[in-house]
Amino acid sequence: MKPLIWGVWLTAILFALSNNARGDAEQALGNLLFTDPNLSLNRNQSCATCHSLVPATNPVTGNPFGTPGFVDPVSVLTGAPVSAGSSAGKFGALNAPSAGYAAFSPDFFFDYDAYTYKGGQFWNGRAANLEAQAAQPLLNPAEMALPSQWAVVTRLRENTNYIALFQQLYGWDLAAIPAGELAPATATPPDAVPAVYAALTQAIAQFERGPAFNRFTSKYDYYLAGRTTLSADEQAGFVLFTGRANCANCHLSFVGQDANGNPAPPLFTDFTYANVGLPRNWNIPGAPAPDPGLGGRPDIAAAWPDGSQLGLHKVMSLRNVAITPPYGHNGVFTSLPQVVHFYNTRDVLGKVGANTNSGFGITGWAPAETTANMNRVLMGNLRLTAAQEAQIVAFLGTLTDNYPATGGDPNVPPGTPSPFTNSALPTIPVQLAIAPPAKLTLTGRLGQFYRIDYRDSLETSQPWQSLTTIRLLTNGQSVPDASPSPLRARFYRAVQLP
Ligand code: HEC
Ligand code: HEC
Repeated sequence: MKPLIWGVWLTAILFALSNNARGDAEQALGNLLFTDPNLSLNRNQSCATCHSLVPATNPVTGNPFGTPGFVDPVSVLTGAPVSAGSSAGKFGALNAPSAGYAAFSPDFFFDYDAYTYKGGQFWNGRAANLEAQAAQPLLNPAEMALPSQWAVVTRLRENTNYIALFQQLYGWDLAAIPAGELAPATATPPDAVPAVYAALTQAIAQFERGPAFNRFTSKYDYYLAGRTTLSADEQAGFVLFTGRANCANCHLSFVGQDANGNPAPPLFTDFTYANVGLPRNWNIPGAPAPDPGLGGRPDIAAAWPDGSQLGLHKVMSLRNVAITPPYGHNGVFTSLPQVVHFYNTRDVLGKVGANTNSGFGITGWAPAETTANMNRVLMGNLRLTAAQEAQIVAFLGTLTDNYPATGGDPNVPPGTPSPFTNSALPTIPVQLAIAPPAKLTLTGRLGQFYRIDYRDSLETSQPWQSLTTIRLLTNGQSVPDASPSPLRARFYRAVQLP
């Protein structure tokens, strides 16, 4: 018997946002924040340092790729598994994933139907959504390393663009907040600081939900729309990907439907978590202990004392994957052919001691970091030939954006819009299942009114009951539901009021 998820904490609620002038201004602010090195301790690192908005250099040709991959260009060029921080000698312990298409991950939740966690941000989903995610790197000692929210807000005050935009968008006068340059986390900040910090994370998240990160202009998108055809190898790779190689079981490749019934483009993830058995990467500076993934989170470990969540990492989207080496949460794989060879032969190749062994991936694979919960059904011995492996790699190459400009394809000339232009932004709200007494964390548009509803089952015949109406003054505001319920889970939604 799996333990019940009583007390599982909270999740958050996201909202679809209309594309209005306010949204444009907010995205422009998010762009400034995302690329501003002054928001790091030594004024030398921004979000874009590790999630670059410009094309990285192709390590094979020495020329730039045709499109950005939103990862660390140093890692792409050198194969370094982890990124350097603002402070000299500091390194993270995990490979920086792409910030592209991350916006489509639903807020972290437990899916009772599939009986699995889904969504969230980071390899272990510990940030419920993009806002919660953006709050972390600025204060992470191995990343941007500022000591406190107050220190971050003090850096914002230096910039007249920020002063104007925070006033216009959120009604905050940054100049009126007392300065606390490098204020320690133990200092009591001025009252406005948490709300200004929340507004900053909202602007960054809105930028990440925008068209720069979510373009849907890969060859595969135009192929789905009937605008072009795949080469023989790409086509064969596609058939294997969705068939015998099992890839599409987790990296979904079909067109779905959004809430309005419009076609929704495939994101090459089902937003679940799995242990594919990655070998340990001994090239990470400081040789940190292997990352235990979902089951290493204190909240998840407490809810699942049976260890059934250990070693599980987020199924990442494969969009732009050809231009974002190295691969896996620990960056142990340096190329796509190596990844595909691993899925094909993990359990049958042979054994080497470590990934630093010259026979790694040729004569054998090194032991899995975490053997618990390793998927042994869909991978490990796919019986693919070398030619078939290469076909899958060719198919993965069709997932790179900016095909109209780079493909040289007369059927998809430069400037051709994405076939998914009108459905590129995430559509929500999601329904959440949590056990009362529960605490929801509400994220949305600051200053807006929301009505929180619940019902006790997913049956559409059951009406929504109103829990409360609130005006959102900080993101991550908690909405408690203390009403007694005999059920283990209740379903919530938030409705934005006019
Ligand atoms: C020093 C490099 C570095 C910097 C700077 C950095 N990140 Fe990251 N980013 C990472 C790493 C490494 C991870 C994965 C960490 C983990 O899973 O624990 C990550 C994960 C993410 C994710 C999750 C993607 C997903 O699909 O789960 C997003 C989104 C993201 N970063 C956005 C940002 C934003 C916004 C900023 C600036 C506020 C930022 N990053 C600054 C390295 C960096
Ligand atoms: C059981 C679900 C599952 C199946 C089946 C699966 N994958 Fe994955 N895939 C994952 C997970 C989970 C990760 C992240 C693993 C990690 O870092 O620990 C991943 C990572 C990857 C990555 C690296 C992504 C990155 O940005 O680092 C590639 C490439 C990839 N998979 C391709 C494939 C291909 C090709 C197949 C079929 C041969 C396949 N996957 C089958 C779950 C799956």
